[in-house]
Amino acid sequence: MSARPNFPEDPHRPRCHFLPPANWMNDPNGLIQWEGQYHLFYQYNPAEPVWGTMHWGHAVSDDLVHWRDLPIALAPTPGSLDEAGCWSGCAVDHEGIPTLIYTGLKQNRESVCLASSTDGLITWVKKEIVAAPPDDLGPLLGFRDPYVWREDSTWYMLIGTGVQNVGGAVLLYRSADLVHWEYMHPLLTGKAAESGAMWECPQFFRLGDKHVLVVSAIVHAYAMYFVGTYEEHTFTPESQGLLDLGLFSDGAYFFAPATMRDDQGRRLMWGWVREGRGEANQKAAGWAGVQSVPRVLSLQAGELTIKPAPELAALRGDRRQFGPMEIAPTETGLLEGVQGDCLEIRATFAPGADAERFGIEVRCSPSGEEHTAIFYERGYLGVDCDYASLDDAVYQGVLGDRMPLEEDEPLELHILLDRSVLEVFANGRACITARIYPSREDSLGVRLFARGGSASLETMDVWPMKSIW
Ligand code: FRU
Repeated sequence: MSARPNFPEDPHRPRCHFLPPANWMNDPNGLIQWEGQYHLFYQYNPAEPVWGTMHWGHAVSDDLVHWRDLPIALAPTPGSLDEAGCWSGCAVDHEGIPTLIYTGLKQNRESVCLASSTDGLITWVKKEIVAAPPDDLGPLLGFRDPYVWREDSTWYMLIGTGVQNVGGAVLLYRSADLVHWEYMHPLLTGKAAESGAMWECPQFFRLGDKHVLVVSAIVHAYAMYFVGTYEEHTFTPESQGLLDLGLFSDGAYFFAPATMRDDQGRRLMWGWVREGRGEANQKAAGWAGVQSVPRVLSLQAGELTIKPAPELAALRGDRRQFGPMEIAPTETGLLEGVQGDCLEIRATFAPGADAERFGIEVRCSPSGEEHTAIFYERGYLGVDCDYASLDDAVYQGVLGDRMPLEEDEPLELHILLDRSVLEVFANGRACITARIYPSREDSLGVRLFARGGSASLETMDVWPMKSIW
């Protein structure tokens, strides 16, 4: 794998998550496994660490953990429908030819473009395929982020949009050849007050015996899913939820997720993890935007479960084990022998804690000025970022949502801490992604805590995580 000496002095730059060599990244795009290798394309501005004229960056992995950079896959072509940007889209296998279907941008107009490669996904030949949205829907907010799949010999495509004064929507198209497309109907339309004015980055796939539709709702940016049934090209949602509970003032840290089915039949998802500090800091850092770790989706008893890919265990160093132990409210000390800014933690707390709030603090400075608490409080799962950093430019806030546990159900936390990125998975059914940027070099401690009563830890394993580069 390529060595990446970039920004060796930057204490906030993640070491175990994918990000480009420098500059700006947003959405994951065109996820596909080709001849065994995982390909990750991504929204990339190679010119600066802020959003701008978008390209498709490209990286490849044999194991879902280590990545190698490949040349930029798509760049705007002057005079064509993508002259102002190559925006998000997907990848399919078209009769043995890797094919990208993506959004072209020209003078604020969005269209659907295609690109295919005959040299092993390195160079791409483009074609313009759907220049404009159907006109019988009235004025639309956006027409972008095509998602394509095949049923028997017919191709289907979803496009994200918003119907003015109604809400976010995804439009369904069909095609026999991937080039000529016929508009069918909206697959789903939301209500603006409930789920945003526009839906970006639709994803649609079978999971177990159901179908799942994922959309990224704006203006307040967050990723949602609907689980339902799909028959006769009609989707009937039966339940819905947020894919990640890490919402701050500007939306969710985890946004615009994309998914793929891999050779093992798993549904994998990556999402863009946004920055939690202002543009001036991004410019000073020289990079912005991270991909989440790959998350595996499945359905259990009709409920969506989300877990980090098991392959990430390859990054584990020596394990430290704790528990069983009681955590009393007087407990204040940091755990001995556990320190770090790149840690994997798995902890199980016994059901029925009498503590009001309990959990784990990470990135703790020795006297506690900085710390980030992952907590459970009376049915609420949260990450408290109010003391994560003494730096005023860093966004604060308590992230989370209700996650009730059954009476006899333990709380199972799976935490991936990678410098400024924190991903928390709880009981396979809730995720919270957060960004933290502790300012002190010694904010490396880990602490168990309980407030207003005690809690009991059944087991806890902690591993330092090795760099993926
Ligand atoms: C989502 C998004 C997409 C668009 C892309 C542009 O973050 O706004 O809708 O295609 O980013 O970079």
